[in-house]
Amino acid sequence: MSPRSIEEVPLPAPAVIEAVRRSCSELPPGSTHLAERFYQNLFEMAPSVRAMFPENMRTQKERMAFALLEVVRYLDEPEEVAGYLRRLGAQHKRDMDIKPEHYPYVGRALVRAVSEVSPTWSSSMSSAWVVVYEWITANMLAGAREVESGGSAASPAGERPAPGPSSEAPSSHRRAGAPTR
Ligand code: HEM
Repeated sequence: MSPRSIEEVPLPAPAVIEAVRRSCSELPPGSTHLAERFYQNLFEMAPSVRAMFPENMRTQKERMAFALLEVVRYLDEPEEVAGYLRRLGAQHKRDMDIKPEHYPYVGRALVRAVSEVSPTWSSSMSSAWVVVYEWITANMLAGAREVESGGSAASPAGERPAPGPSSEAPSSHRRAGAPTR
């Protein structure tokens, strides 16, 4: 089934955001353990996507982990996070030609990774991640659609996602344009 669009996916409820945050708060700061498990799961579950990624995955793991944790951290500022996700989704479409059908693989690999790394994992935590991931996907695909129709998330061609207006860089990963206060 292809992912639902942003018009059909409500912002996750506060209790859902809280459950997802709890699962991340147990991870040591700067940990790429979640990203390690995530990519291992992804490449096992969908070997065909391996070729899209570089041979050496170290930087990619750090960027993905950082982006996800920042999104989770600022979920209660949904407008800023949504803007970031749209730019990220536009970049995924424009630079890597990532398609809607790729997103469910990533979702499954991610939910399994959380269950593996979170010491207090519960099935309600997994359900919360499914809901949050659906919202993330819907925003990224909204950005991707703008690329296809030549909209604002698309321009200028070849640019990385730009930082939001309130962008103090906490780390070198900032260039990926993750939302920060
Ligand atoms: C939760 C959804 C996702 C998040 C948060 C995410 C995050 C990221 C980030 C932060 C980057 C680095 C961008 C940069 O260098 O500026 C990236 C790159 C990339 N992502 Fe994603 N991504 C997601 C979904 C996907 C999906 C569904 C695919 C398809 C299998 C995918 C494939 C890639 C590829 C191929 C790269 C480039 C790797 C490279 O050449 O270095 N991503 N992603």
